[in-house]
Amino acid sequence: MTPRLIDPFQRAITYLRVSVTDRCDFRCTYCMAENMTFLPKKELLTLEELDRMCSSFIGLGVEKLRITGGEPLVRRDIMTFFRSMTRHLDTGTLKELTLTTNGSQLARFADELWDAGVRRVNISLDTLDDDRFAQITRWGRLPQVMKGIEAAQKAGMRIKINTVALKGFNEDELFTLVDWCARENMDLTFIEVMPMGDMGEVDRLDQYWPLSDLRARLAERFTLTDLPERTGGPARYVRLEETDQKIGFITPLTHNFCESCNRVRLTCTGDLFMCLGQEDMADLRTPLRNFPDTDAPLISAIEKAIGRKPEGHDFDYSRQRADGQVTRHMSHTGG
Ligand code: GTP
Ligand code: 5AD
Ligand code: SF4
Repeated sequence: MTPRLIDPFQRAITYLRVSVTDRCDFRCTYCMAENMTFLPKKELLTLEELDRMCSSFIGLGVEKLRITGGEPLVRRDIMTFFRSMTRHLDTGTLKELTLTTNGSQLARFADELWDAGVRRVNISLDTLDDDRFAQITRWGRLPQVMKGIEAAQKAGMRIKINTVALKGFNEDELFTLVDWCARENMDLTFIEVMPMGDMGEVDRLDQYWPLSDLRARLAERFTLTDLPERTGGPARYVRLEETDQKIGFITPLTHNFCESCNRVRLTCTGDLFMCLGQEDMADLRTPLRNFPDTDAPLISAIEKAIGRKPEGHDFDYSRQRADGQVTRHMSHTGG
């Protein structure tokens, strides 16, 4: 389908990230405070509303849908929503239905996700050490996630591991993680910690481990070849010649990938953020709820919102913290 959502910088918007809940069964220190106040349920889009919303975007040329959270698999009855999206895969209008998850519920849901048409899954995992895992996620247990990974592999899904690079935390696990992913035939992407949310106790500037340094360390052991491919996401890839392994780097702070941005993100309350690093958003819940019988007002609100997608993001560690910090939580916008 020819994309109908073209932003002011001639970028076609074909990728929608949807946060279906702000809740999570973990409390990763760089993502959430231990005592979070979550949104009242009535603020959330219902599963039917999520369907209408996503279907409208698909009608406008969105070809890839990534479901996120919080932790998407803790939303009650979320499989009903996944199954309802299968019809768009069947007609070929939707090319990919996928999710980003912490893996805690995958053992239970992997087969159902496969049946709904999910072929790839991104799993967040920052360490392979039980104690460290409990420390960084506060409430998570590593063996549960490992069971989830196993179940996803058994179901036939391709897996990408997302690891947030944290100075003084997982620096010494770099090669352990790379070797593990090579053995398990999983892709691996490192993410620079981003200045989101207001954590108080943990200073993410202290944890900032630039991926240029991580890359240099990899180069001490492996021959790295830059790969030209872009998946439409912010990651840049290298191949490790010795293991024929693909490693991704997401460096929002040191590398500008905005010029090829193809995505927007919908929060669980129906706000559309045109850029992860900007505060501007459009309320899509109102046109959706006020007009239950027609999608025309919703569609025109979506088109208007895309018309003000900014050229780039505002993250900046070099400026005053108060300027560069986006106060929203990742769990609200879905990463
Ligand atoms: P694919 O490209 O579809 O494989 O996925 P992805 O890597 O974009 O998705 P994933 O959910 O695994 O995202 C990993 C992390 O990349 C997110 O949690 C964010 O930290 C970061 N990220 C994703 N999209 C953007 C973006 O548009 N801007 C910025 N700054 N970071 C992003
Ligand atoms: N900086 C970088 N990555 C983050 N994530 C959550 N919060 C942050 C942050 N402040 C990551 C998770 C997961 C993805 C969805 O977002 O680890 O991989
Ligand atoms: Fe939950 Fe992911 Fe945030 Fe960790 S990073 S608390 S798993 S949403």
